[in-house]
Amino acid sequence: MKRREAPIAVIDSGVGGISVLAELVRVMPYENFIYFGDSANAPYGTKTRDRVREITLENTERLLEMGVKAIVVACNTATSAAVRVMREKYPEIPIVGIEPAIKPALEVCEHPTVAVMATPLTLAEEKFLKLKERFSADEDVIALPCPGLMELIEAGHTEGELINAYIRDVFAPLEGKRIDAIVLGCTHYPFIKEAVRAYFGGTAAVLDGGAGTAREAKRRITEAGLENLGTGLGTVRYISTDGDESKTELYKRFMKEYR
Ligand code: DGL
Repeated sequence: MKRREAPIAVIDSGVGGISVLAELVRVMPYENFIYFGDSANAPYGTKTRDRVREITLENTERLLEMGVKAIVVACNTATSAAVRVMREKYPEIPIVGIEPAIKPALEVCEHPTVAVMATPLTLAEEKFLKLKERFSADEDVIALPCPGLMELIEAGHTEGELINAYIRDVFAPLEGKRIDAIVLGCTHYPFIKEAVRAYFGGTAAVLDGGAGTAREAKRRITEAGLENLGTGLGTVRYISTDGDESKTELYKRFMKEYR
């Protein structure tokens, strides 16, 4: 197989990266993809940085052995913990991490107050602390760690009382505070976007980094001369590392339903 025709790997701890894969297929319909959900090691967000880095490097090796031409780390936690080391180790492979939608959040109004929902590990990492510096004051950005939320979404919940109760609890400490934008800083959370939007009654923008990351991936793959020149629609192969078929069914279902 020519290198241009090789698949692009999209990795996450589970179903979250599907929110990025959907955008990738939209901007690169002729590419082939391997969707790699690492359910065997999920969740990432409550592990240590070293452990997530180790897992991600092992998965990278496995995917390179499978012949992928590029890797999109469709997971904020793994991006924060491992993307720099991955790039150092494999400089010849385009490796694209996810960018949380901080920039668009800063543009929603003159002096926005922004809440960032993400895993505990993402919010403790240097990448997030650096992004915070773009705000004029510390109190303009509120970190909201969401342990346990990915597990609810992995169980297939995207709406309903369980999700609404979780959202109410997470935002309870901000009661009465003006929030202009919510950044979904974990790739699982775009699946509950409507529920978050509804909680705020449409008064706050709810943003995620999927589309921006897909555009960046396309740019990087084109720049490396690796875009597939075929004109037939590409394929997606779904893998769940725990071998559980109900997981790959969930990936396919979310892929179909995600807008
Ligand atoms: N989807 C992942 C992220 O974007 C993390 C979920 C987890 O494994 O905790 O951070």
